Amino acid sequence: MKPQDVLAGRGSLWIFGYGSLVWKPDFKYRRSEVGHVKGYKRRFWHGDNFHRGDDDLPGRVVTLIEERDQCTWGVAFEVTGAQVAESLKYLDVREAVRGGYVTKVVEFHPRGGHGPPVPALVYIATPDNPTYLGPASPDDIAARIVACRGKTGHNVEYLLRLAEFMRASCPEVDDAHLFSIEVAALARLSVLL
Ligand code: SIN
Repeated sequence: MKPQDVLAGRGSLWIFGYGSLVWKPDFKYRRSEVGHVKGYKRRFWHGDNFHRGDDDLPGRVVTLIEERDQCTWGVAFEVTGAQVAESLKYLDVREAVRGGYVTKVVEFHPRGGHGPPVPALVYIATPDNPTYLGPASPDDIAARIVACRGKTGHNVEYLLRLAEFMRASCPEVDDAHLFSIEVAALARLSVLL
């Protein structure tokens, strides 16, 4: 049984987004909460040959990597009733078929005492995915992001919107990986302008 089938059976499903879902869920939901999951770090280690790149040059997008003592901030969306099946159908195409992500269940902690931790569905890319790219320096990651565009838009848009979300919604969190890539990408773009 898939993780989403286990959670969807409850009539209410939380979906945790830590990449483009934080600014563009594009599905109907009942409510959303900013918060975090423990035991994972967010890294631009997945290769995307549909949304933000192509087969010749896959873009760099985020995935979650298990690591003790780390946490990743994002947004969880609660879907209920007919929204459960609708959102899972939509996300299966967007995240699994086109994005190469697989599903997993994590424990989501809403920020600031907005309720107890809840199990949430998350889409994660693993190293056995053929387009997985793995670690690289911030500057190498930024160079790839500046060079890539896919069917959904430019890879730079993905990076800048994620960094903007973190500054606006989680100003107390220093996401060093994300912000170092943003700085490197902006430096590369300033040379081009
Ligand atoms: C995704 O949700 O993983 C891709 C969508 C996007 O890049 O905007």
